[in-house]
Amino acid sequence: MGNERVFNFSAGPSMLPLEVLERAGAEITNYQGSGMSVMEMSHRSKVFQKIFDDTQAKLRKLMNVPEGYKILFLQGGASSQFSMAPLNLIGKTGKADYAVTGNFSNIAYKEAKKYGTINLAASSADKNHTYIPTQEQLTLDPEASYFYYCANNTIYGTEWQYVPETNGVPIVCDMSSDILSRPVDVSKYGIIFAGAQKNMAPAGLTVVIIKEELAGQELPYTPLMMNYKTMIDKDSMYNTPPCWCIYILGLVLDWLESKGGLPGMEAIKHGKAQMLYDVIDSSRLFTCAVEKDSRSDMNVVFRTGSDELDAKFVKESIEAGFTNLKGHRSVGGMRASIYNAMPTEGVEKLCDFIKAFDKNN
Ligand SMILES: Cc1ncc(COP(=O)(O)O)c(C=O)c1O
Repeated sequence: MGNERVFNFSAGPSMLPLEVLERAGAEITNYQGSGMSVMEMSHRSKVFQKIFDDTQAKLRKLMNVPEGYKILFLQGGASSQFSMAPLNLIGKTGKADYAVTGNFSNIAYKEAKKYGTINLAASSADKNHTYIPTQEQLTLDPEASYFYYCANNTIYGTEWQYVPETNGVPIVCDMSSDILSRPVDVSKYGIIFAGAQKNMAPAGLTVVIIKEELAGQELPYTPLMMNYKTMIDKDSMYNTPPCWCIYILGLVLDWLESKGGLPGMEAIKHGKAQMLYDVIDSSRLFTCAVEKDSRSDMNVVFRTGSDELDAKFVKESIEAGFTNLKGHRSVGGMRASIYNAMPTEGVEKLCDFIKAFDKNN
């Protein structure tokens, strides 16, 4: 491959748009005449404050975040929110509803049990997480402090195609692996959170969009750094925020705007995913176990049914210039993560590779 960039199908951290990397590269030693890199700036400096404010404003505009919602730029990873959400919200009634549709919602569910009574509102474990429960399959408690779900299951390749109706119970949603890939009605949520390392920025930034009125009811032993109120009151600057990642997010948001914003990105990503599913479904060798109406546009899982052939596929895919197509260790098979930054050309080439492998094996 020499110095060429590869088509990187990593589940995260994953590809960033080339235009973003090039712009960051051009500005890396001297950001817009400041004489320093964004990596070297005080987070309290005027120059950085502008980057911060602009990035926040761009995200608010792109996602159409309504008044009454705060955008937080935190550290700790999406996993920190598995504790932060219950610590801050469960105090209201002591109860919460969780839908477990994969690995990360299961971790969140187990974590929340430390802080209150957790009702398993739905689980897709009965079919190895190959489907998303319907609204009718959700057992909701009207007294829950909140309802929790994970919008896209990165490992199992499933994605919620609807926002659950909870009759006024606030929704907490982990959007780590599909945020910014489609428009969402933020007003339907209490909290949206995401680790940045798939569709937003490098690892190290956790974005939280929170309805402000939900903050301030934390359990008394909530650590300072896990209190949404601390971060809201100081506009995410209680301590040092992940400055570099926030800057890159700003560049990614500019790039998204140039692609037609979220409606534009939705059309592009859906086209890429559909192309891949069509090739898998019409092959002799490959299958995707996920039910059709639950399939993820971000993480496409597939397999041949033979561990040896899967291994051969992965090996040959690397030789052909693709990386990270091996499925997660817990499920095996293959997984193509095709987030926003994966060019359509990368998916087309992967489709050609799958077709050729199907023919030759
Ligand atoms: C849906 C989802 N939630 C949470 C996480 C955990 O994120 P982090 O590593 O930022 O804690 C991941 C990581 O892949 C994920 O895919």
